[in-house]
Order: sequence, then C-alpha cells, then structure tokens
Amino acid sequence: MVNVDEFITDAKESITEQIGDGHAIIALSGGVDSSTAAALAYEAIGDQLTPVYVDTGLMRKGETEQIRETFDYMDSLRIVEAKDRFLDALEGVTDPEEKRHIIGEQFIREFETVAKEVDADYLVQGTIYPDRIESEGTIKSHHNVGGLPDVVDFEGIVEPMKDLYKDEVREVARDLDLEEIISERMPFPGPGLAVRIIGEITDEKLDVAREANHVVEEELEEYEPWQALAAVIGKATGVKGDNRVHGWVVSVRSVESRDGMTARAQEIDWETLQRIQSRITGAHENVARVVYDVTHKPPATIEYE
Ligand code: XMP
Repeated sequence: MVNVDEFITDAKESITEQIGDGHAIIALSGGVDSSTAAALAYEAIGDQLTPVYVDTGLMRKGETEQIRETFDYMDSLRIVEAKDRFLDALEGVTDPEEKRHIIGEQFIREFETVAKEVDADYLVQGTIYPDRIESEGTIKSHHNVGGLPDVVDFEGIVEPMKDLYKDEVREVARDLDLEEIISERMPFPGPGLAVRIIGEITDEKLDVAREANHVVEEELEEYEPWQALAAVIGKATGVKGDNRVHGWVVSVRSVESRDGMTARAQEIDWETLQRIQSRITGAHENVARVVYDVTHKPPATIEYE
C-alpha cells in the first residue's frame, strides 16, 4: 500500500462499482480486519450493507457491548444472540479440528439466515494477505476464509483488503476514525476463546478464559505485543485457603510478530508476570496455577488449538 488516503478512495470506488445497487453483507467479529472492511464498505454503500455480528458466546469480555457502541451509527447492523446454540453444538466435543468445524458450520448457519432475510447478493470479507497464504497451506482451517462463500449463492465476493498486511489495515482503520480500541486491538481468532481452551468447552472454562484474557490484554498492553493471550490448558493441584483444589491451569502467552506466520515469545518482567498470576488466580476459585509460555512460532503455533 503506497498511500492510505489513495487506498481508501480506490477501495471505496471499487466497492461501489462492484456492488452497484445490489445488497451486501459482512460478518463482523470485533477484530480489526472485519471492522475495517465494514467501515470501509459502509462509507462506500451505506445501508446497502448489512453488518452481522454473531455473539457465539466465545467472544472476549465486553466484545458485544463494544460492537453495539462502535457500530451504532450503522442503521443496518444486526446482532444475533447465538451463545446457547453454539454451546449446545459443542457439548462433549474435545477434538480441536472438530471444534473448529462445528463453530464454522454453526456460524455459517446463523449468517446464512440473515443473508437470506436481507436478500444479499454480495459478501464483503475482511480477508488480508496472510489469511490467504495460511489458507493455501491449510495449516489450520480458517473459518474466515473458507466456508462462507460456498453456502449462499452470492453473486460476488468483495475483499477490499486482500493485499494488505495487518499493520496496513491498522493505518486504514485509524484513517477511517475507527475507535482506538478497535484499530489497535490485538488480532482475535474467528473461533474465539474456543482455540484457547483445550478439551471440552464449558461455561466454567469460558469464564476462566474470558477473565484471564482480559487481565492479560490489560497488563501486557505496554509491551505492545502482536498478541497476548491466556489459555485454559488442563488441570493441576493447588491450595486455596485451607483446601487442596484440583483446578485449572492457565497458560499466558505474549508474542511479537508482523503477520502471525512466525512469532517470538516476549520477555516479560517478573513483577508483571506475578501481577498477572495473582489477578488470574484471584479471579476464579477454580484456578490452581498460571504458567508463562516461552515457545516461539515455530515450533509452537500462537493459539493453543
Ligand atoms: P496460529 O495459532 O496458527 O495463529 O499460529 C496465527 C494467527 O492466526 C490467528 N488464528 C485465526 N484467525 N480464524 C481466524 O480468524 C482462525 O481459525 C484462526 N486460527 C488462528 C491467530 O490468532 C494468530 O493471530
């Protein structure tokens, strides 16, 4: 991308041209990519765009409220409350790929319902360059790239940011005056907290993961990580008060990266790590210990599943 203003003008022109007087739909995830694509497309075609946010129950703390606030100016915004349907579909499932698959399928079902209701001809997506590369290599099934276009018979797919890297998307977001909480937000995977919970997804593990991710994002902001996250990785023994507990183990991870394809684990000072430990173990009676992940990518991935 040579120049942000030029990029935005060209992208809007091309969106308007492609969609004409048709109707478009976009899935908002709360992440910077889909938010930026939605803001860009909305500037171009206004209420000819229906932005759809599906609350899967796997979102970060405060995400739904944030979306409601940020995109309140779009009259066509749809918020779908689908938590119960997602958790029912995921009950008892422990295999990582199966979990991803179920989430992807359920997401498509929810999205498809709205797409049919508003009679959408076009699908706008916040796909960026590294998504396309990882999808080709099928390192993991990325549900923000595969899947959606196949279900509804869209006349066309519009991907205005398909050649941009994440840092360029952030520049566009800033230029479009998206709130800082969105433009500077760490990337968050489509399947949400599900990829940060090993084994079955339960309400309790989700509560632990949601609060722990909130603590980590807050405490590590000053390190400006590409991503800082927390995952519920298993159970271990601990002592809480006078009792031994068999509680959750939360792994904290903070990485530097340009595009998520490779990453380096960040060195965090001891005091900060201890504060994180104390806040996470204090937030939930069933958390027994907190560990810090020092593994780079490769050999590890950034997420846990
Ligand atoms: P991994 O864990 O593969 O992640 O090292 C690389 C980057 O991709 C994000 N990620 C996803 N994003 N859908 C997404 O939209 C997904 O299924 C998905 N899986 C991983 C991850 O957060 C990191 O930024």
